[in-house]
Amino acid sequence: MRGDVNTIKERLDIAEVVSGYVKLEKAGAGLKARCPFHNEKTPSFFVSPTRQNFYCFGCGAKGDIFTFVEQVEGLEFRDALRLLAEKAGVELDYQRGESRTEKDNVLEVLEKATLFFEKELAKSKLARSYITSRGISNATVKSWRIGYAPDDWRLLFSYLQDMGYDKEIITKAGLIKTSETSANKEPYDVFRDRIIFPLADSNGRIIAFSGRALSKETEPKYLNSPDTIVFTKSEVLYGLDKAKEYIRKQNYAVLVEGQMDLVTSHQAGINNTVATSGTAFSRAHLERLKHLSTRIILAFDGDSAGEKATEKASILGVSLGFEVKVASLPEGLDPAEVASKKPEEWKNILRQSLPAVEFFFNTVQGQEKDSRKLGKQIEKKILPMIKLTKSAIEQSYYISLIAKRTGIKEEILWEDLRKAVAPSVNLQGQTYVEDVNTKKDDDVIQKSYQEVIEERLTEVRLWLKDLSDSAPEIALLKKEEAELKNNLSGVILRDELNNLLSELSQAELSKNNKLIEKLTARIRELHGQIRALEEKKKIL
Ligand code: UTP
Ligand code: MN
Repeated sequence: MRGDVNTIKERLDIAEVVSGYVKLEKAGAGLKARCPFHNEKTPSFFVSPTRQNFYCFGCGAKGDIFTFVEQVEGLEFRDALRLLAEKAGVELDYQRGESRTEKDNVLEVLEKATLFFEKELAKSKLARSYITSRGISNATVKSWRIGYAPDDWRLLFSYLQDMGYDKEIITKAGLIKTSETSANKEPYDVFRDRIIFPLADSNGRIIAFSGRALSKETEPKYLNSPDTIVFTKSEVLYGLDKAKEYIRKQNYAVLVEGQMDLVTSHQAGINNTVATSGTAFSRAHLERLKHLSTRIILAFDGDSAGEKATEKASILGVSLGFEVKVASLPEGLDPAEVASKKPEEWKNILRQSLPAVEFFFNTVQGQEKDSRKLGKQIEKKILPMIKLTKSAIEQSYYISLIAKRTGIKEEILWEDLRKAVAPSVNLQGQTYVEDVNTKKDDDVIQKSYQEVIEERLTEVRLWLKDLSDSAPEIALLKKEEAELKNNLSGVILRDELNNLLSELSQAELSKNNKLIEKLTARIRELHGQIRALEEKKKIL
């Protein structure tokens, strides 16, 4: 593998690879372009042929050809490797002598089944009228390859057998099963009398199905394929294959719960929507999105179950370094109803989504009229969530917001925040409370804001070194450098301030007046310095 990676790197030039996706212009010793990973008018995406890497001053994206292709195509490393190997004309180690695998056969059967379901939908008036009644257009049916599994025990099974596929491979594709208890050992179709939503992998290959019952009496309402060698239910994001390029371009993803929500949201023009289908939103889902964007809008049902799911997902998202916003659905409605009937209102709802902390603060404020109780709720629910956001800038934004809207003094909120315990999340996505002092042994946890800034500063300085003195980017980079330095000072001062505040409460406990006086003086000084920095930021 390592050998393959090196050979590919030797044969391909980063400028050539990148220019397949964006238009590069000369910039000093390097090249620049409008960043493919976020929306921008003036180029801040730089490619260095000497270092064979790229860096974006706008969004911080960076890496080598492999990272670039992973991110731009939304691929896993393995698939990026395959793609670049092909481009470089390198035959990968594991491909040598590889024959048709069982996986290929399963995928082929699934594709044939998709075609079957599509044809059956065209034949069934009843199924088509159900789809129309849910506000789904013909174009949506076509683009999502929505189908229908007829009300019959073995229609698909015999169809596939007639095409030459055997029982074993159809079973492995999750399309038929054999009864353990009944005397009849003849396998039967898993999906019967259901509207079929094919689920694709990120390359658009069909890997499973989800079937919506036509009749109200049928349980379960949605039936999903079992896990197979090509499908892991808890990891799949429905719609990702189509949404990925929009998520990257718009630099955020909209998350809904169900299949209907997903297709109607796309139908309404929100093409960066993905859905967790039938499982709770999990770390695995976020891992898949992380390559595309770290900004998400949660748009779950407007009921109490939806609100619980939103809270869990927010905590999970924020703790993994995502910028999480929450959309408020009218009570009792789900995205599908709004998006199919009033697409413009759906867009408005998303536009008005609020940062998770603000959303939950509003909820708490709406519920508690008594100011003492409100204070308690803020301490219990809101501050722990603020604690979770590692960014000092974001923390101070929320603290001043809450102070303004409750009349509680900022200093007091800072002090309570210091004592607050951030909620944490285990791998199953359930929340539990963890001691803040135990370091998380989890490398996906977000880097500290300070580390991010320091990294960017290093990059800027490296670029500055690469450029000739007359390069037009110099001004841009110098400005970036100044801003970063300013931010870094801010973070360091905030840090000191937090430490001193806790020393101060210790000193107050032990009634050490001399120390109190000294600390108070320094704290006042720090406040002044932080304010001065904020002013300077406005000028920069
Ligand atoms: P909902 O019960 O909210 O269904 O479950 P829905 O999305 O509103 O569906 P419609 O509009 O009535 O057709 C949310 C999601 O949970 C999964 C499905 O992905 C569903 O869209 N689910 C629900 C299942 O996997 N199985 C079920 O039995 C029910
Ligand atoms: Mn719903």
